[in-house]
Parts: sequence; structure tokens; C-alpha cells
Amino acid sequence: MLNAVGQAQHILLLGGTSEIGLAIVDELASRGGDPTVTLCARRSSPRIDDAIAEVQRAGAAHVRLIDFDALDFASHPAVIDAAFADGDVDVAVVAFGTLGDQEQLWQDQAAAVASAQTNFTAPMSVGVLLGQRMKRQGHGTIIAMSSVAGQRVRRSNFVYGASKAGIDGFYMQLGEALKDDGVKVTVVRPGQVRTKMTAGLDEAPLTVNKEDVAKAAVDAALAGKPAVFVHKLFGPISLVLKSIPAPIMSKLNF
Ligand SMILES: NC(=O)c1ccc[n+]([C@@H]2O[C@H](COP(=O)([O-])OP(=O)(O)OC[C@H]3O[C@@H](n4cnc5c(N)ncnc54)[C@H](OP(=O)(O)O)[C@@H]3O)[C@@H](O)[C@H]2O)c1
Repeated sequence: MLNAVGQAQHILLLGGTSEIGLAIVDELASRGGDPTVTLCARRSSPRIDDAIAEVQRAGAAHVRLIDFDALDFASHPAVIDAAFADGDVDVAVVAFGTLGDQEQLWQDQAAAVASAQTNFTAPMSVGVLLGQRMKRQGHGTIIAMSSVAGQRVRRSNFVYGASKAGIDGFYMQLGEALKDDGVKVTVVRPGQVRTKMTAGLDEAPLTVNKEDVAKAAVDAALAGKPAVFVHKLFGPISLVLKSIPAPIMSKLNF
């Protein structure tokens, strides 16, 4: 059970080498409680050893590793079964994803399908499984990574943004569907974050660090908030963007 000061006994990270996901796990683990951390990551990832060392440094008493390929949908039930095999999961963080070359994505069918499967279908697949498991155990917190990009889908990143819009809606309503079962869902919507996903890109306004995302995500989850914008200005900015008519958005060209 996630207690009032953010201590959990078992934390599950899907996207076990995600910089933001690991920062959220670190934020939780550093609050004490000697948690077990289960990392679900592709066996082929070169970042697994570093991820294990990082969560151990943050305070994980025990680290488990499960092979997880987001694109292998048929394997997801067995992955989630394995994650819960040793007992309840208090917090599950859904943090895998790809950004990709946005100008390539909308013109390349195979790349667009892979992007949508990674950023929309797969997070929904594991969300359904996590929801059912947590409903059965009668408690749990899901922290799902969305993005400001999904608030108003824009020309500059509309393949990625469309998936984030969809998955944001899914996890918001998953929280609604599970609210009487003791399960909470918090959707996290950063703008640009300084991680390997955005390395090499020009820095956007209001860019934050992964530690800012982690603090905001954990604080929001503890407060039972269904969603959080990491930079406070993105709440009002998103509201304004949503209300701009399409012909004006077209002229703004972003
Ligand atoms: N960085 C940002 O600016 C930003 C802003 C808003 C939202 N977000 C969202 O936050 C989440 C985490 O992003 P991040 O910045 O932490 O990115 P990151 O460090 O690049 O992590 C991405 C993770 O996704 C995993 N992944 C990609 N495809 C996979 C697949 N087919 N199967 C299993 N794992 C796969 C990667 O695993 P490998 O190690 O195997 O590659 C890695 O663990 C994503 O959902 C992202 O969309 C990021």
C-alpha cells in the first residue's frame, strides 16, 4: 500500500530504463520503506544494468527484472502476471514510449504504425491488465506518462501527439472506472523534459528536468489528483490552445 508519505512496498516500472520512469521510482524509493522494484524492460536494452544500479542507489531493497516488449501485445498478460507473482503492486508507473522523427512519421506508414502501437496501443494494453489486477487486490496507484503534446494536437508532432491525446483520455477514464475499487490513476503531462528522448532537439520553452516530473507525479499521486501538468503554466496554456480555432492554429504554424 502507498502510504501518506509516499512509501511503497512494491513499485512496478513499465519502461524499466525510461529516464522519467526511473526518476519517479527514485523519488518513491528515496522516501524509505525498503521497496521492491520490478523493472519491465526489453532484454536487449543496453541500459538495464544502469537502471538496476540507479534504483538500488535510490533505496530499493530488492530489484526484479522482467523482459517486456511493448510491441509484443500477446506477451503482456504474462508480463503483468509475473509482475504480480510475488504479491501486490502498490504503484505501477507506465513510462515507455518513443518520440521519433515527426516529419518522417506522418509520411511513413510502417513508422507511424509502430509509433501508435508503442505510444497508444501498448500503454492501453498494460493499462487494462493493471486495472484488473489492482481492482482484484483492492488498492493501487497507476502513474501514466502523457504529455502536453496530447492536449491540443499540433502540426509539428501530430503522430506522437495523437497517441498521447488518446492515451491521456484512456487513463483519465480508467481512473474514473476504478475509483470505487480503491485504485487511483494519475496522468502526468510534462512539456519537454531533458532526457535521451529529446537529446539533440532545440530546447522548448518551459522545459523541465526529470526530477521535476518525478516530484510533481508523486505529489499528485499522493494527493489523489487525476492529472498533473508539471510546469504550472501548461495548465492555462493548454486551455487556451484547446480554444483556438483550427484556421488560427494553422496560421500559428507550430
Ligand atoms: N522526454 C520528454 O520530453 C517527454 C515529455 C512528455 C512526455 N514524455 C513521456 O514520458 C515517457 C518516458 O519518456 P523518457 O523521456 O523517460 O524517455 P526515454 O528515457 O527515452 O525512455 C523511453 C523508454 O521507452 C522504452 N521503450 C521504447 N520502445 C519500447 C518497446 N517497444 N518495448 C519496451 N520498451 C520500450 C525504452 O526502452 P529501451 O531502453 O529498450 O530503449 C525506454 O525505457 C514516455 O511515454 C514519453 O512519451 C516524455
